[in-house]
Amino acid sequence: MNRTLEDLVGRIERTTALDPVADRLAGLVSKRLSASTSLRNVLSGTAGGHPLHPMLVVVPIGSWLGASYLDLTGGKAGQAAATNLVGLGIASAVPAALAGANDWADTRLAERRVGFVHAVGNQVGLVLYTGSWFARRRQRHALGVALAAAGGLMLGVTGWLGGHLSYARGVGVDTTAFDRASEEWTDVLAEADLVDEQPTLVYDGKLPVLLVRTGGQLYAIADRCTHRGGPLHEGPFSDGCIVCPWHGSKFRVSDGQVLAGPATRGQRAYEVRTRYGSIQLRHTEEVGSLRRDPIS
Ligand code: FES
Repeated sequence: MNRTLEDLVGRIERTTALDPVADRLAGLVSKRLSASTSLRNVLSGTAGGHPLHPMLVVVPIGSWLGASYLDLTGGKAGQAAATNLVGLGIASAVPAALAGANDWADTRLAERRVGFVHAVGNQVGLVLYTGSWFARRRQRHALGVALAAAGGLMLGVTGWLGGHLSYARGVGVDTTAFDRASEEWTDVLAEADLVDEQPTLVYDGKLPVLLVRTGGQLYAIADRCTHRGGPLHEGPFSDGCIVCPWHGSKFRVSDGQVLAGPATRGQRAYEVRTRYGSIQLRHTEEVGSLRRDPIS
């Protein structure tokens, strides 16, 4: 089964014929959502620190699974409750789909293709559950159960595709999660080479770091945007904040905090000092075991 699903997703990832439709749709979604920063922040989950979509999908999935459980075990007494659960799943699928569309619009190429098929399959599932709800309301319970079962099967496949995007492709994961910053003071630039108010790219080993001096203070944060990896030093800088050039997330350079989405995670902020005309940085925060020791 795993092999079959892997073959399926591999084929989807290589199907460039999906691009014209998927790209056009993603462009429309981006255009609509970029009109409202606050809506974008809400749908991204910026305030909560994690993407919103995975949190919202548990409501329709749970409701629909609950309905199927009642279909199997509840008999006639469970029919009304099962109908209500199907209805709750339909209503809660709408915000979940909006949050997913928001995330999907920032993907590219193979990820966008898989996300597109994931979304289309979910819409088919939603239509099947909507048909199930109407059938149940019209006392055609057997048809309602059958449509719900078909919807559940469809969602099983599309859910797997969603899992592939998150766990195999890392969509929605902090792109710096496995970076290992230097814990020792490291020279990165001669003090004289840094221009005030100008974000400058330096390196902590192989990790790109944005270094800036503003208001007489030195700040350094990870340069790779936690959202999808955009190079922050290429974005506009003003009032102590940098804006990602790819999708417009805004970060405060003094502590890396995210002030506007779609990013949900802040940037790693380094300690910075000068010694003998050289700018040095380090990052000593306690972090997870995979980042500290990814080999063993
Ligand atoms: S890469 Fe998307 S906001 Fe930075």
